Amino acid sequence: MHKNLSEILITREQIEKRVREIASDITRDYHGKEIFFIGVLKGCFIFLSDLVKNVKLDTNVDFMMISSYDGKQSSGIVRILLDLKQPIDGKDVIVVEDIVDTGLTINYLIKTLKTRRPKTIEVCTLLNKPSCRKINVNLKYVGFNIPDKFVVGYGLDYNEYYRNLPYIGVLKHEVS
Ligand code: IMP
Repeated sequence: MHKNLSEILITREQIEKRVREIASDITRDYHGKEIFFIGVLKGCFIFLSDLVKNVKLDTNVDFMMISSYDGKQSSGIVRILLDLKQPIDGKDVIVVEDIVDTGLTINYLIKTLKTRRPKTIEVCTLLNKPSCRKINVNLKYVGFNIPDKFVVGYGLDYNEYYRNLPYIGVLKHEVS
């Protein structure tokens, strides 16, 4: 375990198993369709790549980058820093997030993307902190519900560090 962590919340093996389960749920639910995955950078990058490898359907992958956080605090301001390269009208879209906390980011993003007239749009998030929710959002696929702790690893960062850890861990208070 990394020295700046107080505990490992979800192991590499637990993540691998759950990602395969979600991928087969998606493969079943979208049978006969093509999926347009939108990864929300940067946190999604490991989850999305593991997920799509296990989805047995035709897929398209594109990315967006939005900013809503400054360090560990939600600023409440959401800005699109990088937009999609392809149109999504008439597509079956799945937005892939690393974590849904207050829900403000994903809520804003879904509202924006709906104006581009996708056929369907759903959310797939690796982690969910239900106790932190400030706005109701519909999450079709959730990897793990976790308590209100600041977590890093498997794509999630604290000030750009720890994304490479192959597990989800809780950052020690003294380093955050
Ligand atoms: P929301 O708008 O509060 O739902 O925030 C979602 C975004 O906040 C995520 O995409 C992450 O970038 C960031 N975030 C929220 N909680 C954590 C955490 O525990 N660790 C790392 N990033 C987090």
